[in-house]
Amino acid sequence: MTDTLYTGISLLVTPHPGPQRGRAMRELTVLEDAALLVSGERIRWVGHRADAPGAANERDLGGVAVVPGLVDPHTHAVWAGDRLADFEARVEGVPYETLLARGGGIRSTMRATAAASEEELARLALPRLEALQHSGATTIEVKSGYGLDFDAELRMLQAAYFAETEFVGDVVRTLLVHVPPTEGRAEYVRAVCEELIPEVAEDNLAQAVDVFCEKEAFSVAETRAILEAARVYGLATKLHADQFHAIGGTELACEVGALSVDHLEASGPAQIAALAASSTVATVLPGVTLHLGLPTAPARALVDAGACVAVGTDLNPGSSPVFSSQLALALAVRLCGLTPAEALTACTVNAAAALGLSDRGALVPGARADFLALHSADWRDLAYTLGVSPVRGVYVGGQPVKETPL
Ligand code: NIG
Ligand code: FE
Repeated sequence: MTDTLYTGISLLVTPHPGPQRGRAMRELTVLEDAALLVSGERIRWVGHRADAPGAANERDLGGVAVVPGLVDPHTHAVWAGDRLADFEARVEGVPYETLLARGGGIRSTMRATAAASEEELARLALPRLEALQHSGATTIEVKSGYGLDFDAELRMLQAAYFAETEFVGDVVRTLLVHVPPTEGRAEYVRAVCEELIPEVAEDNLAQAVDVFCEKEAFSVAETRAILEAARVYGLATKLHADQFHAIGGTELACEVGALSVDHLEASGPAQIAALAASSTVATVLPGVTLHLGLPTAPARALVDAGACVAVGTDLNPGSSPVFSSQLALALAVRLCGLTPAEALTACTVNAAAALGLSDRGALVPGARADFLALHSADWRDLAYTLGVSPVRGVYVGGQPVKETPL
């Protein structure tokens, strides 16, 4: 295994490993004039340049800041068609939920996605993953959820798998049970539990099951049944909850030990207290706030209450056409009131915890060597810059996948 020593690091900045909650989200390790020794795909040593061990290769990054690769814990990167007409209608005043109730919105993406082949879906997804990676994401979660029927749902997961084989980064696949059929929903939920989830588990098509628990989607009782089936078949669980109405999804996620509960725009004191007392990660999605003009998820209050908060893009055509994980981080500071340090923790170790991963997100010996070299000597540019990428180099498992010349 070849060892490479990365030098020319003005500042090496990292959260502590493992999920961080409350005040600990602000506690970063900051090393000046640092070096990073990579052996194979892992970090072997981190410290001051002057103390660095020798290595077969040395790479000078040019005096810039280095941070961990971002983990995007929530995307719907596989879809066909577009939602441009919805966008225009919404700007003219039609609410997102009304479009969905009329058979448009998510349902129109389901029709377009069901009509596309696996190969076509993979071809559409790959550049979206690459855009997220160019913004700094080295691990990306991808959900299904636009399948009109189970076959289409399985095709989405296969497409994510095909895209993943072409992608130099990590993809984590999630089965999303998104919108119930207009008729026969009891039968649909039964078939999700008894047919779809067992097949997904058996073929190793996803690592987790997610459910959209909402007035216009699945009830708490239906969600509970689906999460229970996921548990029986050995899959982790997550929820889309409290996006428009706090109907009990967050409390359910905490009760069953879901990895994360995502959205939370409609969460109030009871949901904040439940998350503060639980190990379920609270994932906020500021792109949705920006694009739908929804209230902001109470990320500040969640951190202050002691919860573990993560941030994701929620990249999808309807509620968050945000193709940059770095922009999600920067928006979490602007819209959700996180400090730059909290936002970095939210987008690295905490986002990894939201995917059940503990081997990445912090630059410490033994961790995966997924890291970013910025254009700037000051790491805070990662949270500050809007509209162009402050990320100069993206390194996955110790290998460069993007390097803009100095
Ligand atoms: O995370 N709210 C539910 N699902 C997605 C949106 C999907 C879409 O609008 O296409 C979300 O916001
Ligand atoms: Fe989502």
